[in-house]
Amino acid sequence: MKALLCKQFGPPDTLVVEDIPTPGIGPNEVLVDVHAAAVNFPDSLIIENKYQTKPDLPFSPGGELAGVVVAVGDKIRHLSVGDDVIAFTAYGAFAEQVVASAAQVIPMPKGVDYITASAFVMTYGTSYHALMDRAALQAGETVLVLGASGGVGLAAIEIAKAAGATVIAAASTADKLAVCVEHGADETINYVEADLRDEIKRLTEGRGVDVVYDPVGGELTEAALRSCAWRGRHLVIGFAAGDIPKPPLNLALLKGCSIVGVFWGRFVQTEPKQNAADLKALFGLLAEGKLRPHIAGTYPLARGGEAIAALANRKVSGKLVITPRD
Ligand SMILES: NC(=O)c1ccc[n+]([C@@H]2O[C@H](COP(=O)([O-])OP(=O)(O)OC[C@H]3O[C@@H](n4cnc5c(N)ncnc54)[C@H](OP(=O)(O)O)[C@@H]3O)[C@@H](O)[C@H]2O)c1
Repeated sequence: MKALLCKQFGPPDTLVVEDIPTPGIGPNEVLVDVHAAAVNFPDSLIIENKYQTKPDLPFSPGGELAGVVVAVGDKIRHLSVGDDVIAFTAYGAFAEQVVASAAQVIPMPKGVDYITASAFVMTYGTSYHALMDRAALQAGETVLVLGASGGVGLAAIEIAKAAGATVIAAASTADKLAVCVEHGADETINYVEADLRDEIKRLTEGRGVDVVYDPVGGELTEAALRSCAWRGRHLVIGFAAGDIPKPPLNLALLKGCSIVGVFWGRFVQTEPKQNAADLKALFGLLAEGKLRPHIAGTYPLARGGEAIAALANRKVSGKLVITPRD
């Protein structure tokens, strides 16, 4: 089978496509024909040995996929050959086939195509867990989304709108903000051209925002935290800008606000029942047309490095997906 391989740690243009033997499966594993695999931010880190998971070389990046089960381990009863599934693997999905632990495989909802299915659960799951479980978002509240046209950002806009909130989307270009408006944002802020705090003050008439959704970090974090309303919640999602900010903690005291950590991967393992409830709610919203995943492009395996580079270089709104069988 063909796989996009990282043979030495380095930038996306060092990835190569090669034929490798089909992997064998253990008793609790399945082999999946990969029809689509979403590109996620960690893919850009894992190939440079900058991610917490450090696979042995050579390996394929890619942690989230949709496809068809083609072999099932001896101990598995709930999955069969021919099932359409979504699977999570820390790496390995940018290949024609991948082995997945049965615990990390879920049935693909009916009526959803492979491309959408591959790019849905991680981003929407993270944003739903953040806004609904961790921030307990209420209808009528105001949410500020940073990096709002990115994968988790667009998902956060749609979920917050579905919950009845007002959404301020903040991003770096007019084109990205236009995508945010298409996905439901009520107001926008270009944080390259305007001062984030001044704009939030203006848009909220000095009140501040109830929830900050922050997947960016860097210098935006403190400005956003300073813009929290009384009893606000600042959700710590990620650090796409690279720097882990160290905002003064007196801000939390002065605003009576909470700084709330969000770690979806650990939540899935630690609270499987709540995760199943979240996914049920998300698939319901998807079926009702209240969520509209934005797939910015699909790439064959041979151009997978380009897709990872585009995401890492802030060139993408929504999601890119690799289709290994094209
Ligand atoms: N906590 C969790 O459980 C969890 C789950 C999923 C993802 N994450 C994290 O959330 C972050 C965003 O993930 P994503 O999938 O939404 O990524 P993404 O699609 O690449 O979006 C990230 C956004 O961050 C902004 N950004 C600002 N400075 C950047 C920089 N130097 N490099 C790249 N982007 C920059 C970009 O928007 P502008 O150009 O508009 O500024 C970009 O759209 C990542 O750090 C990821 O690891 C965390």
